[in-house]
Amino acid sequence: MTLNRSYIVGNWKMNGALADGAVLDAIEAGIAEQSGVDVALCPPATLIAAFAQKAKAIGIGAQDCHAAPSGAHTGCLSAPMLKEAGARFAIVGHSERRAGQGESNTDVAAKAQALFNAGLGAILCVGETLAERDAGNAIAFVTQQLAESLPISAAPDWLTVAYEPVWAIGTGRVPQDADIAAMHAALRVTLVERVGEGGQSIRILYGGSVNPANAAQILVLTDVGGALVGGASLKAETFLPIVAAAAR
Ligand code: PGA
Repeated sequence: MTLNRSYIVGNWKMNGALADGAVLDAIEAGIAEQSGVDVALCPPATLIAAFAQKAKAIGIGAQDCHAAPSGAHTGCLSAPMLKEAGARFAIVGHSERRAGQGESNTDVAAKAQALFNAGLGAILCVGETLAERDAGNAIAFVTQQLAESLPISAAPDWLTVAYEPVWAIGTGRVPQDADIAAMHAALRVTLVERVGEGGQSIRILYGGSVNPANAAQILVLTDVGGALVGGASLKAETFLPIVAAAAR
């Protein structure tokens, strides 16, 4: 993982079945022509093992993990379990989990640390609601959210940050380029303050309604190291143009 390479990650959320291995194959065939870009997919946990066995160039990740390595946590999956299934990393702190499952910044930091402890990578998501954006608090809110969500072992070789404005996820709305650039610059400052020099090279992805039409414009912005893609990652026809826009 280096800042020289772009990183495009698909998050399938609660979508996908074994038959969608054909989508994985099509994406894999398409990215063979691209250089300078790392590509990953986070299918639902039920597909991690099958996809990890099939995938060659695509890194397979999970969408969440529990902070504990094992225990009485019905329905949850630990980082070592995800690793055994073939995941190389997991998303933590996605706004759909922060809102739907009440996950706090402290929970998110613990989950990220659990991934590091298991030898996995993490994509740590942060982002403001529309109310915070409209109140003019977006940068203060998101930088504090990041500072409080960073695990103690934060370092560029395993940690990626994703800025995902909650109001841009699945809505077709994206912030102005200047607002994305300003947020990424502020997150960079927070990373350097908290992590030291290593914070300079932690990748910061943008996520929220990235699609083939807007990807190129977003991916060239300063400090945008790639994209976390939801809806447009479900089909090779919409995901591959985003990967192509990131190729260097
Ligand atoms: P979207 O989702 O691309 O469908 O907006 C992004 C995400 O939630 O990671």
